[in-house]
Amino acid sequence: MSLELSPSVKYLLNFFHPVIMWVLLALSLYAAYLGLQVQRTRNSQGEEKKELIKGRYNIKHYQIGSILLALMVAGAIGGMAVTYINNGKLFVGPHLLAGLGMTALIAFSAALSPYMQKGANWARVSHIVLNFTLLGLFVWQAISGVEIVQRILTKA
Ligand code: HEM
Ligand code: HEM
Repeated sequence: MSLELSPSVKYLLNFFHPVIMWVLLALSLYAAYLGLQVQRTRNSQGEEKKELIKGRYNIKHYQIGSILLALMVAGAIGGMAVTYINNGKLFVGPHLLAGLGMTALIAFSAALSPYMQKGANWARVSHIVLNFTLLGLFVWQAISGVEIVQRILTKA
């Protein structure tokens, strides 16, 4: 089955996923900053703690994290959809596999939220390990993603 889209629409579709994912990379770094502020707040005392609590980092982190979860899942599905529309197949390579891996990681990471909020230390530790792995994969994914974009540009 092939989708009947004009060649220029098909070509333009190629750039949605890369742009969204770069925005998400920036958002992840912001989420990481907020998460570390949550940790600082929890470990601080006295006046410093009062000041940090005013930053409402836990609420901001949870909100940004939720947006990140939704857009990362949708963005990965979108990348596969566009690849399929343009090539009639997927390329089972590092970018696809790392992308699917990241999608699973962020699902687990977000699912730990109720346990972290109950104060479970195992959940916090797992959340941090999962997410710093996620960030590492993200940087790698940005590099392999740009290589794919270059291939698309030179093909045209
Ligand atoms: C790049 C992605 C992320 C990073 C680097 C990150 C990092 C962190 C860190 C360092 C903490 C502090 C743990 C502590 O108190 O010691 C934390 C807490 C938390 N994170 Fe994330 N996180 C990320 C994504 C997410 C996502 C996707 C969600 C959920 C949708 C989420 C929900 C939470 C919640 C609920 C807490 C507990 C906050 C509290 O104590 O009230 N995070 N995160
Ligand atoms: C950070 C910058 C990224 C860039 C520049 C990028 C770029 C690309 C490009 C150009 C494609 C080909 C499809 C298309 O033309 O739209 C693609 C496919 C794909 N991307 Fe990304 N990507 C990035 C990040 C990510 C991330 C973070 C994920 C997953 C969480 C992901 C998952 C996928 C998947 C699953 C495919 C389909 C691969 C295939 O079947 O061959 N990408 N990406």
